[in-house]
Amino acid sequence: MARPYLIAPSILSADMAALGSEIERVTRAGADWIHVDVMDGRFVPNLTIGVPVVAALKRRGGLPLDVHLMIAEPERYVADFARAGAAWLTVHAEATLHLHRTLEAIREAGARPGVALNPATPLSAIEHVLGLVELVLVMTVEPGFGGQAFIPAMLPKISRLAELLRERQLDVDIQVDGGIKGGTVGQAARAGANVFVAGTSVFGPPDAAVAIRALRAELESVDR
Ligand code: DX5
Ligand code: ZN
Repeated sequence: MARPYLIAPSILSADMAALGSEIERVTRAGADWIHVDVMDGRFVPNLTIGVPVVAALKRRGGLPLDVHLMIAEPERYVADFARAGAAWLTVHAEATLHLHRTLEAIREAGARPGVALNPATPLSAIEHVLGLVELVLVMTVEPGFGGQAFIPAMLPKISRLAELLRERQLDVDIQVDGGIKGGTVGQAARAGANVFVAGTSVFGPPDAAVAIRALRAELESVDR
């Protein structure tokens, strides 16, 4: 059976001075998960938020926190993020020398493990861990900033990943992140993605509910 389509607004585009009410706003607007972008200024050229903010968001309750670690050596922090309340913890294949061990550590810490790929990283980098993860994040922009344009060359990568998971009969979510909006959301879904991170396109417009409804309407028209 096809995995459900899920919308995960990225708080990178939210009003950071009002995060609590911003997540309530997108929750009321129909979001499925809250996507939290953690950046360290090393793995990506930007700095955002860390463990205390995840813990504070968790205390507000509500939707699952989908934590995207864009940090070098994520193995040093996965237990802390899991303890803080991350439901999903996604690490970059490029960021750790010990991907298999890091993913196991996430599971042992009680979170759901995900693995992310930068645009330049081939699927071969994660073939050995597909049995260990519950989510693969195919980056559709270079990580580090919101508001960038979707890279269409990622579509064949998504399709190949979907095929690989089917061949191996693995029940794994395919997430896309970067430049997801009207048009690209449907393209990514047709290629095989089912979890859609959206920053600018959900937090940008005045009415997040209208924005999320428009993304869902486009997804409903995808034949699968
Ligand atoms: C980029 C982040 C994304 C970002 C997406 O490195 O991982 O989650 O917030 O923003 P938009 O949807 O604006 O491209
Ligand atoms: Zn992200």
